[in-house]
Amino acid sequence: MGNTRSDYPLKDFYTDIYSSYDRVNRIFTFGRDRSWRRKAASACLEGGPGTVLDLCTGTGDFILEVARQAGGGITLTGYDFSSAMLNEARKKFQRLREREQISPVDFIEGDVGNMPFRDGTFDAVGITFGIRNLVYKNSKAKLHLAEIARVIRPGGQLVILESSRPASMAWRLFNGFYLRFILPYLGGLISGNLQAYRYLATSSKEYYSIREMVAILEEAGFRSARGRALFLGSVMLVVAEK
Ligand SMILES: C[S@@+](CC[C@H](N)C(=O)[O-])C[C@H]1O[C@@H](n2cnc3c(N)ncnc32)[C@H](O)[C@@H]1O
Repeated sequence: MGNTRSDYPLKDFYTDIYSSYDRVNRIFTFGRDRSWRRKAASACLEGGPGTVLDLCTGTGDFILEVARQAGGGITLTGYDFSSAMLNEARKKFQRLREREQISPVDFIEGDVGNMPFRDGTFDAVGITFGIRNLVYKNSKAKLHLAEIARVIRPGGQLVILESSRPASMAWRLFNGFYLRFILPYLGGLISGNLQAYRYLATSSKEYYSIREMVAILEEAGFRSARGRALFLGSVMLVVAEK
């Protein structure tokens, strides 16, 4: 999983950018992130889970999409170590609940490296744009993967949506240019935190291909891992079974 990251203050920087995070997401994905999360949510609901955990839930877009698609009768949890991001998620949940009938979502603060859930609690776990934080040049990568596997019941599903290294050389060059010269500066301008967007852009640019992500999951004990390329391979949707 590469060199380990020095103690990059991930938690602090998400706390710094929480208010502009959604806006920057929409701009940099040309609004496509919503449709990717819809696809990830429907993959997550495929086996008819009764309990779903969204790790690195951030401002809650993924778990709220699961809530919307599932309707009711499902237990939903969003988990993140940034209280600022979680507060945004809770506000969004309240606004959505005023408009639509959806199951309640429990938003819990904590670190993925040490989760307060019993073994096998969840039928499905989703992680959208969060696994990169947990494994890319992260000294706790193995611990994070082991914890994720621990809280999923045997036969349960892991659904990952994440940036990916495109297979096509031409697209890889364009993608690399965009991530190196455009995203950090525009993101920095909008959020006021250049360092945060430099990290996000670099880790996206250097992140794994689908094949590498599948291999990492299989090494961590998951099986039947399979990936699908989205946005010409700049984004991947990977599903694996415990
Ligand atoms: C790029 S955001 C993704 C948010 C959301 N899932 C989405 O789709 O937009 C990554 C989130 O992961 C959280 N995070 C990173 N490392 C974490 C860890 N070890 N434990 C819990 N949350 C973590 C951050 O606080 C941040 O909210």
